[in-house]
Amino acid sequence: MSEKEHLIDSQQLLDMELKARAAADNAHCPYSNFHVGSAVLADNGNIYAGCNVENAAYPSTFCAEANAVGNAVADGAKAIKAVLVFTPTELYTYPCGNCRQILNELSANIPVYLVCNAKETKQTTLGQLLPSVYGPDNLAETLPGSIA
Ligand code: THU
Repeated sequence: MSEKEHLIDSQQLLDMELKARAAADNAHCPYSNFHVGSAVLADNGNIYAGCNVENAAYPSTFCAEANAVGNAVADGAKAIKAVLVFTPTELYTYPCGNCRQILNELSANIPVYLVCNAKETKQTTLGQLLPSVYGPDNLAETLPGSIA
């Protein structure tokens, strides 16, 4: 499947951006003051947002993308069709390595949209950001009923 076939329509993209911007406003980020909002489009057609939630024990921080995925799953979503990351910054914020892995669990080569103070929304794919991925397929042969 080509990358273009995965692209979503402009209304969905706008909805994702608005939800990610609203979530970023609500971020709990007293340590970094770096507000991140994310929105995922799920297979049920709904858009779920998340923001970063920092913790005084720094490694216990949750990223915006992870929370967006968690919100989708909690509502019954089984797959993610697109993700958007917004930060009110001059530079685009790409999903961190851990979030790329989290997204891959429920996605194939989905579009990744990046929105910041720059005029243009940037688009890439999870496949470009996380090539040669380790994922659910690697464990498939250990599942009950498999050949191995
Ligand atoms: N952060 C995210 O929420 N998503 C990313 O992909 C990159 C980093 C958050 C974590 C932390 O709260 C803040 O940004 C600074 O690293």
